[in-house]
Amino acid sequence: MSLETNWEEFESMCLSCRKCPLAETRHNVVIGKGSKTADIMFIGEGPGEQEDIQGIPFVGAAGQLLDKMLLAAGFDDTDYYVANVVKCRPPKNRDPLEEEQNACMNYLRRQFILIRPKIIVCLGRIAAKAVINPDFKITRERGIWTERKGTYMIATFHPSAVLRDMTKKKPAWEDMKEIRRKLLEIREGK
Ligand code: URA
Ligand code: SF4
Repeated sequence: MSLETNWEEFESMCLSCRKCPLAETRHNVVIGKGSKTADIMFIGEGPGEQEDIQGIPFVGAAGQLLDKMLLAAGFDDTDYYVANVVKCRPPKNRDPLEEEQNACMNYLRRQFILIRPKIIVCLGRIAAKAVINPDFKITRERGIWTERKGTYMIATFHPSAVLRDMTKKKPAWEDMKEIRRKLLEIREGK
């Protein structure tokens, strides 16, 4: 992949990728969904069963909760793009291994460069560790902005974690509203 790689080349490289063992068990490579000129990029962990079947990220139960929260917080469809740390489903939804994440990370970097969002939102521990800081502690550090080379980054609870533990719902919702506030602030500054 070169610095000139465009969307078309990028997507065809992803679709034929066999750089890690997840290629053996996947049904579809799940690249991303949403606006390619979005100001916000959400990053999850990896495709689940429904995502693997449909080839689209966040279409299962977690995705439905995410959609609901984004709508309630006032986001428009064109505000965001959604991708994952790994593009192929880990068997039985286990955490993606470090080597699988490393193998896939260049695709996520390329996607970031093609979109150039103003804000990155990591959904859950795995994405926060992969993207923000390897020592990231999701419970303690969620909802806190960091800035890197002009891009604002934040992590919140993964919607699957919210579905498992309803005490996470309120902080996750507070984070969504804060992300919306930040987006409007950034836009006003331009
Ligand atoms: N969970 C994720 O992390 N990503 C998806 O695409 C779906 C569920
Ligand atoms: Fe390639 Fe990423 Fe799929 Fe592994 S998870 S095969 S690196 S696209």
